[in-house]
Amino acid sequence: MRPNFFPLVFVGVLLIGLFYLGFNSIWLSDFRCNTPQTNGITKEKPHKDLGLHSLPGLLYKQSSVLNGRADVVCVTPWLAPIVWEGTFDPTLIDSIYKQQNITIATTIFALGKYTRFLKDFLESAEQHFFVGFQVHYYLFTDQPEAVPDIKFGEERQLKVQTVPKMDRWQDITMGRMEMIAKLTESELVNEVDYIFCLDVDTKFYARWSVEALGSLVGVIHPWFFNYPRDQFTYERRPESQAFIPPEEGDFYYAGGAFGGSIQEVHKLTKTCNEQQKIDAAKSIEAIWHDESHLNKYFLYNKPTKALSPEYLWRNINAHSDTIKTIRFCSVEKDVAEVRPNL
Ligand code: GAL
Ligand code: GAL
Ligand code: MN
Repeated sequence: MRPNFFPLVFVGVLLIGLFYLGFNSIWLSDFRCNTPQTNGITKEKPHKDLGLHSLPGLLYKQSSVLNGRADVVCVTPWLAPIVWEGTFDPTLIDSIYKQQNITIATTIFALGKYTRFLKDFLESAEQHFFVGFQVHYYLFTDQPEAVPDIKFGEERQLKVQTVPKMDRWQDITMGRMEMIAKLTESELVNEVDYIFCLDVDTKFYARWSVEALGSLVGVIHPWFFNYPRDQFTYERRPESQAFIPPEEGDFYYAGGAFGGSIQEVHKLTKTCNEQQKIDAAKSIEAIWHDESHLNKYFLYNKPTKALSPEYLWRNINAHSDTIKTIRFCSVEKDVAEVRPNL
């Protein structure tokens, strides 16, 4: 008997046909409408949900797992990046953050004679600090009339908050924690995404931008990056809340620059302020004031990103083989002359 293959072939062809139609109309058409690319160049604004909006036609050096900075460590033992010159591609990283509508807040404090640093700080920040991004400077000062008239770039602005005069420089430097905690509690939450808290007796010399962003960011202090931890200038008296024993600690972080998301910086400054208050009630002041409390905080709350001392160098004329670019640097000053008391 000859077997009748006809029904089988018919069903087969029908199935293939349906499958093809279904595939074409559901998958391919969808795919096509979300990929408005011709010859690699995006013609229309593509759909955000597929993430296909990133970096159209952007040319940059190939990423490598074998070649990079070999003279420095670029990741902490808790896997946070350590940012050095040569560890990021500025064009690439800028283009990633350009697609997000982010605003960066910066706090600076200029009380007493520290207003003299404002002009250089602000003018150099306009040249190097988050250029092309929205920046809001929050300046706290006891002399609003001494704020220099600076021309700010588009989408960059200065907000001045008048604060009472303070006599002790130690109170000024520590008082920053409380003022930043208040600022990040309410006003800033809906206004900005990230915040950096910087010393004002400083100047920018090179790019300091989105490569520095992270939820909790510390800067490795320019004096101690090659020291054993028992020689770090942590607070060593157990009576202080900032106490760190000699066998503990990761890095020594600078008090002159730290940052992160508004929420994380709020937690940090609120905690440090509380710890400072506990110390004050016991008539103890940590050796390096807010910087000591910051170091204690970072020991128990590890930064998600650490910035190399390029991000706060000690002296523009000091050189080190590991520092390929000085981005931000303390200004030389006569402390005895500039501080209200010593
Ligand atoms: C500086 C800082 C100033 C002020 C001062 C207090 O390092 O830039 O904003 O806080 O410390 O001494
Ligand atoms: C100094 C710096 C101080 C403080 C100190 C810590 O170089 O000027 O502000 O950070 O290191 O030992
Ligand atoms: Mn300083």
